[in-house]
Amino acid sequence: MIHVAILGYGVVGSGVAEVLHENAGAIGRRAEEEIGVKYILVRRDYPDSPFRDRMVRDFSLIEQDPQVEVVVEVMGGTGAAKEYTERALRAGKSVVTANKELVAEHGYELLQLAREHGARYLFEASVGGGIPIIRPLSQCLAANEIEEITGILNGTTNYILTRMIRGGLSFEAALKEAQDNGYAEADPTADIQGHDACRKICILASLAFGRHIYPRQVPTQGITELTGADVAYAGSAGYRWKLLGRAIRQADGRLCIYVAPHLVEEENPLSGVEDVFNAITVKGNAVGDVMFYGRGAGKRPTASAVVADVMDVAKHRKGPGELSWAPGGEDTVAPADALESRWYVRLAEAAALPEGVQELTRPDAPAGERAFLTGAMSGAQLRESLSGFGRVVLAQRVLD
Ligand code: NDP
Ligand code: HSE
Repeated sequence: MIHVAILGYGVVGSGVAEVLHENAGAIGRRAEEEIGVKYILVRRDYPDSPFRDRMVRDFSLIEQDPQVEVVVEVMGGTGAAKEYTERALRAGKSVVTANKELVAEHGYELLQLAREHGARYLFEASVGGGIPIIRPLSQCLAANEIEEITGILNGTTNYILTRMIRGGLSFEAALKEAQDNGYAEADPTADIQGHDACRKICILASLAFGRHIYPRQVPTQGITELTGADVAYAGSAGYRWKLLGRAIRQADGRLCIYVAPHLVEEENPLSGVEDVFNAITVKGNAVGDVMFYGRGAGKRPTASAVVADVMDVAKHRKGPGELSWAPGGEDTVAPADALESRWYVRLAEAAALPEGVQELTRPDAPAGERAFLTGAMSGAQLRESLSGFGRVVLAQRVLD
């Protein structure tokens, strides 16, 4: 029997306990050993939970129990979550997590610590919720030089955009629904301002390009500046808004990496990814384009990925820890501004437009408001081309 301790009994933690319990037969067969939850670390009472008899408040009990081989960290954040992860790894216990903030900030050192102590640190659930992406990227696509990763990486914002565009909901009402469904972070500003997607593209980029990429190195914008006007202009030309995380290898080996809303053509498969679904396209130099799609957040999809990692540990207890990357550095990242693309621009108080742009229209636009698509250019070229043409309200890239 493999004994598991779950740290945190929120959306994901309760899902992990449920899935391990409900699917115990199949899980035990496939892992070739029974897997049971021995402890759940909590900081308040859950009198109605069927797992209340396993709840404890002192992490030392878990740390010091030699029977516990796997610790599932689903508390979130980089405070107690980091401390307990380190203590578990030092005690030789493998750690499975959904905590992308911790992996994005400290993945390199935690993977090293796991290796030093003959344990494993696994985080399939940290990107794309229930979508298998970490293992495919590190194993199935290992023969490739990865040239580009582009993804819809945040379920909450994709849900909000879908509900605003298709359901006519306000931003606040759509966010409330996402929170009620268990998709949002404890502090949803991490979702709507793009930080969650930033952490995820950092993890994918670190894995794919082999050096730790830190969130502070990644220019990040969320969806808060998009308005109904931008949705209408986009729709008029056959585009939809998607919040994308992108990492693109440059000729010198550095990465252009950033998170921002993009206009995506309706023919592009990413444009049809709706609600809480995420999709990630990976371009390898041998395989070409590969796309991963599924539920990017939520209790049971995320638990599915967490439990699969627990089963992996059960089958390969002291495995070589196949997830790894080298330390980061300032030489890993190239300025994203230099990347050329077409741009969507909305101006206020504009009497004229730059030459060669494709103007967009929407009903009831106020006088002086103009929106258009440019040709391909860098961020610096865009700014230069716009000087003297009115106030720039929004300028975002088109995904080509
Ligand atoms: P929740 O806020 O629902 O759950 C976190 C739980 O951890 C809460 O119950 C909280 O307790 C508990 N907790 C926090 N600190 C401690 C502590 N020191 N000791 C004991 N318990 C603690 O978050 P989620 O379950 O949604 O997310 C958990 C992790 O999974 C996060 O890292 C998140 O980013 C990640 N994740 C979430 C997904 C989702 O769809 N929700 C998908 C993929 C990843 P209390 O209730 O008392 O605050
Ligand atoms: N808040 C995250 C999201 C959870 O909405 O995508 C899944 O990582």
